[in-house]
Amino acid sequence: MSARAPGRAATGHAGRAYTRAFGIDIGGSGIKGAPVDLTTGEFTADRLRIPTPQPATPEAVATTVAELLGSFDLPMGTPIGLTFPAVIQHGVARTAANVDDSWIGTDVPAVIRETTDRTVLAVNDADAAGYAETLYGAAKDVPGTVLVVTLGTGIGSCLVVDGTLVPNTELGHLEIDGEDAERRASDAAREREDLDWEAWAARLQRYFRVVEDLLWPDLIVVGGGVSKKHEKFLPRLDLRTPVVPAALRNAAGIVGAAALAARGAALD
Ligand code: BGC
Repeated sequence: MSARAPGRAATGHAGRAYTRAFGIDIGGSGIKGAPVDLTTGEFTADRLRIPTPQPATPEAVATTVAELLGSFDLPMGTPIGLTFPAVIQHGVARTAANVDDSWIGTDVPAVIRETTDRTVLAVNDADAAGYAETLYGAAKDVPGTVLVVTLGTGIGSCLVVDGTLVPNTELGHLEIDGEDAERRASDAAREREDLDWEAWAARLQRYFRVVEDLLWPDLIVVGGGVSKKHEKFLPRLDLRTPVVPAALRNAAGIVGAAALAARGAALD
């Protein structure tokens, strides 16, 4: 899967061009979806959000996804991409860091197909959000190695090299100073420990320094809900890599999933 010139339609593996696709973002509290115009990266209808069922078992989530898809008038064959906060290897969830353990080993597209009769592409949440930033957002047209890091309940990472996504980098789970990095530096850690911006930025500084020493990216994009308050913490970082806030905010997951689905295999 490679980046494309802006304004051109995405092309599926059989060469079919898509100008529309649908993205679904599965999170711990909400399942959100919207149709996406792939030439602009914008929603073509209002996003719908349905609370994530609890427990968020594969079957319960598939039923909610069916409800969400049923609320839109989607022609059969529309590429549908779905994000999930776990390692997704060829459709199979391999981890479940912040979701129900019963997902581990689940073939996500198969479970969704059983309930919805639709073919979907499943992708890690940070990979989807980061990929969207490279197509339409803060890293648009940036050559070289782009690292997108999402700061939320966990720390998600997305590595895109000259437009090609290297999936499942999972850099939130780097062990730094003897601890899982996201335990110390996620936005949830900031809230849990009631850290002020300075204290949290110091943890981010340690985190990003390790990451930049390993990957030497050309650009770091920082996403996640807290990125809308980027002026509170990004200016406190002292890194050799340029760091910018994400541009697409909470649309990124949906947009990236839709874009990846339009390029993905097994859709035609
Ligand atoms: C998970 C990643 C996910 C990130 C953000 C981490 O705990 O391991 O797969 O991308 O959280 O949700």
